Amino acid sequence: MPHATPRGLGRLAFGGDYNPEQWPEEVWREDVALMREAGVNLVSLGIFSWARIEPRRGEFDFGWLDRVIALLHEGGIRIDLATPTVVPPAWFYREHPEALPVSRDGTRWAFGSRGAICHSSPAYREAITRVTTALGERYGDHPALAMWHVHNEYGVPVLECYCDVSAAHFRRWLADRYGDLEALNAAWGTAFWGQVYGAWDEIQPPRLTPTVANPAQRLDFARFASDSALENFRHERDLLHGLSPGVPVTTNFMVSPTQCDTMDYWAWGREVDLVTNDHYLVGEEDRNHVNLSMAADLSRAVGEGRPWLLLEHSTSGVNWQRRGIAKRPGEMARNSLAHVARGSEGAMFFQWRASRAGAEKYHSAMLPHAGTDSRVWREVVRLGADIGRLAELRGSRTVADVAVVWDWQSWWAQKLEWRPSEELNARERAEAYYAALFDRHLTVDFVAPDAGGLERYPLVVVPALYLATEGAGRRLRSYVEGGGTLLVSYFSGIVDEHDAVHPGPHPGALREVLGLTVEEFQPLHAERAVRLTAPGGGPELAADTWAETVVLRGAEPVWEYADGPAAGGAAVTRHALGEGAAWYVSARIGRADLDAVLARAAADAGLPERDELPRDLELVRRSGERGDYLFAINHNDAEATLPLAGAAGSRSGAGSGEELLTGERVSGKLTVPAGGVRVVRLDG
Ligand code: GAL
Repeated sequence: MPHATPRGLGRLAFGGDYNPEQWPEEVWREDVALMREAGVNLVSLGIFSWARIEPRRGEFDFGWLDRVIALLHEGGIRIDLATPTVVPPAWFYREHPEALPVSRDGTRWAFGSRGAICHSSPAYREAITRVTTALGERYGDHPALAMWHVHNEYGVPVLECYCDVSAAHFRRWLADRYGDLEALNAAWGTAFWGQVYGAWDEIQPPRLTPTVANPAQRLDFARFASDSALENFRHERDLLHGLSPGVPVTTNFMVSPTQCDTMDYWAWGREVDLVTNDHYLVGEEDRNHVNLSMAADLSRAVGEGRPWLLLEHSTSGVNWQRRGIAKRPGEMARNSLAHVARGSEGAMFFQWRASRAGAEKYHSAMLPHAGTDSRVWREVVRLGADIGRLAELRGSRTVADVAVVWDWQSWWAQKLEWRPSEELNARERAEAYYAALFDRHLTVDFVAPDAGGLERYPLVVVPALYLATEGAGRRLRSYVEGGGTLLVSYFSGIVDEHDAVHPGPHPGALREVLGLTVEEFQPLHAERAVRLTAPGGGPELAADTWAETVVLRGAEPVWEYADGPAAGGAAVTRHALGEGAAWYVSARIGRADLDAVLARAAADAGLPERDELPRDLELVRRSGERGDYLFAINHNDAEATLPLAGAAGSRSGAGSGEELLTGERVSGKLTVPAGGVRVVRLDG
């Protein structure tokens, strides 16, 4: 079901997690009435209700769920029905204490919160089979069922389990991957520090060791952990496909690298019928809408550009952040519509009604503790109406200008200990380059290192790809030779899939395309900056944390180190290769200065300058059967005006269209109120 969307909505989705089991039944009728008032058409139901559904092993109580589903159905609200497998009931752990996961230091976690799961546990597998089958049999063909929501946020906050059962499972996974011990010993480089294995049962998960554990073993264990959870997801998905044919099955991701670092979402994206994502705005962060956009672009990417759905975000403050900063008026709508601009088929929240008890009672909700006489509720109702006006966008696709290569496995590898500097930070670089592209009003498609089809992007950016195979290097090389412009940041292309340095000088997998080698890494002292100057013209730039001694082998210097350990050497280079060019940035240039480098590469790629547009006026295009849609999201406190023709790379020559939220005709220029959003269907 590769192009699935929730069944039977007819509009974009609007709603949230609904936890009626936390409330007396009298409240349910009021819930449904208020949902209708707010324009809610989809709720995620039953995520944490295993203990209510199966109060004792094998004994099911579906009465309450039947009643609440009937009420929702009567109210015209469709259901994203969860399998509650993220929190097995207390009785399960009493029977199977061995199914509680063990941390790296050997501590067994306890029941009493959520997500305490050992994905290798046969008892857990048996229990999820029973409850998923019971749910699938009972509701698989219910007319209100829009989709299945398996589990909840696999991998958040923990995924790895180091117990003995997991150890045995890990060995089976390794045997599948390597076939024999000789291959494993070679891949893990066990000759180093005398770690050679002579029998499979000598191999353990990388538990706490006196000093740094084998990095290849750790990387494989991270892969194994993601894969073992994926096995459980696939198992539930396949049960549901069998019992509920034609109904899409999803599980909610948390693709933002700021929020989850345990899952290989490239692999997971291939397994769901519809990508769904949860995103929690970091209230305290300056310009946090940039990070939101990055999460939305990643969500679209893991579904290979297909429509996806934002399954959770917040109406206001988030109580697990250090400070639950309340959203400012209008911010929730900007957040929701930014996700829609970037491909979401709607906007859903955690949660419908604020909980009175439990760990999340201070988390904002669609219906807050303050009730309906509140700013949040009024904004929810307004947003529901706005989402309703965008029904025709269903199935249209976001159009990107630039590709950014990102890889979870490479990130995991780079984060391990004893890298050349503790301050090397892949996520920080990815976010910095993303922000620089955002500031140039360019829309990003994230791509995996093994992705084909790069030639459709004039510019490909590689902000942090420490682990890159020879194959990835060859693909980037042929992209450049064919006329593409590539921009690569430092500490990319260094190791292969086993975290072994590519033979020869750095950056092994990329030195040919970049036309250079790196003779020596030059990590900088804390707080010490270096200056970069451009002999051929260009602003002086500042860098900190990282520099390199670069040896040119075909590339030309564009910026050079004016001081610091690599003084006099090339810092930023350009290599003309075939029909294209490959840029290399060997230093950690701060966010503010990065734009100067990006501007040069973007010009090389023939991308338009959009200097006339205000900063933080977010422009994104979706394209569908009825035409092109321009989203203009104004994150500023002042009104913004932009020329419609050519905005966000639109094909529209006429520069006119219909604004869907106000119903007004617009022509020539579009004005976006301070903090407001406009969505224009451009005339074809
Ligand atoms: C998500 C989770 C929800 C809720 C929400 C707000 O990560 O899926 O169940 O906990 O965060 O904290």
